[in-house]
Amino acid sequence: MNNSKDIIFEDINIDEPIPINETDRQYYFMAKAAAYVRNLCNELGRRPTCCVTTFGCQMNARDSEKLVGILEKVGYEITEDETSDFVIFNTCTVRDNANQKVYGRLGVLNGYKRKNPRMKIALCGCMMQEASAVKKIKESYRFVDLVFGTHNIFKFAELLTATFENQSMVIDIWKDTDKIVEDLPAERKYPFKSGINIMFGCNNYCSYCIVPYVRGRERSREVSDILREIRQLVKEGVVEIMLLGQNVNSYGRNLTNPISFAGLLNEIEQIEGLRRIRFMTSHPKDLSDELIETMKNSTKICRHLHLPLQSGSTRILNDMRRRYTKEKYIDLALKIRREIPDITLTTDIIVGFPGETPQDVQETIDVIRQIQYDNAFTFIYSPRTGTPAADMPPVSESAVKEGFDQVLKVVQETAREQVKRFQGMVMEALVEEVNDHDNHLVTGRLSNNTLVHFPADASLIGQIVPVKLEECHGFYYTGTVQPVG
Ligand code: 5AD
Ligand code: SF4
Repeated sequence: MNNSKDIIFEDINIDEPIPINETDRQYYFMAKAAAYVRNLCNELGRRPTCCVTTFGCQMNARDSEKLVGILEKVGYEITEDETSDFVIFNTCTVRDNANQKVYGRLGVLNGYKRKNPRMKIALCGCMMQEASAVKKIKESYRFVDLVFGTHNIFKFAELLTATFENQSMVIDIWKDTDKIVEDLPAERKYPFKSGINIMFGCNNYCSYCIVPYVRGRERSREVSDILREIRQLVKEGVVEIMLLGQNVNSYGRNLTNPISFAGLLNEIEQIEGLRRIRFMTSHPKDLSDELIETMKNSTKICRHLHLPLQSGSTRILNDMRRRYTKEKYIDLALKIRREIPDITLTTDIIVGFPGETPQDVQETIDVIRQIQYDNAFTFIYSPRTGTPAADMPPVSESAVKEGFDQVLKVVQETAREQVKRFQGMVMEALVEEVNDHDNHLVTGRLSNNTLVHFPADASLIGQIVPVKLEECHGFYYTGTVQPVG
């Protein structure tokens, strides 16, 4: 298979037959789209602009980098301006408010398109895998030019070409796929860090979650493909990577040569020049002792674990189909804290799952108090059409609100104490950017994922420097950079 670095874009002849190999095929369409963009450029008297807006998780953020990589390659100027000539919404559907946000923002785009009729609008991502959303767009949002889903994002160059050749809405949604297409371009948001997909989809079918329906069956990438991608990124200056999957702990089980997630981490650890390894997300039911041991012995794996709890009530966990009990979760989290004392633990919690009583909420609060998370993302349960929980009787709005407020309060109290425990220490921070509010400061990320702001200039961006954590302000620190040595 062709490596993206080996393809000489300018040499592709679009008058020749379309290649069969998928990567080559998409490069062919990039060359074709580039010709259309050149024409557009001549008509406009300037480079056409484009903007990719990402909703949702890290997985979507990585997908957006792939879209931007292709848009840049075919000649668009990348902006963050939604009045651009081409605007793409990469959507999320994990909770209904994510969908509502997209509909609201689409209304605004329609106004822009009236002023600039040449404007193109595309929608992709998880929400587009829901038949009801696509139906609504077909009926009520006729001004959209392109709709595609999560399984065929690799076809973006081809679909983009189709928008130049069709006046009507182009729609291409796949129900599922076994396909993993390697070696397409991606444009990283940060030159020094990058997300890397190690697997796609999810097979867990937690009863509240729409992800398995919109992201499909679990598929792992080959170890050799992952290592090749990381080595290339390191060559380009990346020092920190984030391995992405809905459930990284089940990585590799279905490969022809099965390997564990810890096994993959051990291979990645060997890559010279790579400084930090992160991963997301871990399902507690699959987190092995081998992984804890690997993390403990590693000098590169970051001291942070995101371990979604969802609920502290065994009865609710059972209805959620999480396949662990309150006690099992607590044992696991405490074991991790014991084995790796400098680790930070974060979590996701859902309040208001059908059938949840005030007693169940107290069980969740009890777990929070025992584990003392460094941070917890608390969500109000949102029924998702097609999931088993959507048919269960809902909890009253007032009970949800009360439970949510109680959980949030305890999370904030415990996190404040927990984050503070590193105050006064010197830790390494990867400098990510100049501070938004004060340009005399830069923002660095500690191995444990906590942010620290300290006086320095942009020349440090991308470097890992020792920083004294002087003052804790809830979820972040202020500090000063320390001399090395
Ligand atoms: N309602 C509320 N929160 C949800 N999540 C997933 N599905 C739902 C839902 N239907 C939360 C879970 C998950 C996080 C990414 O989103 O906590 O871990
Ligand atoms: Fe959804 Fe559960 Fe899969 Fe996470 S593990 S994506 S919550 S089904």
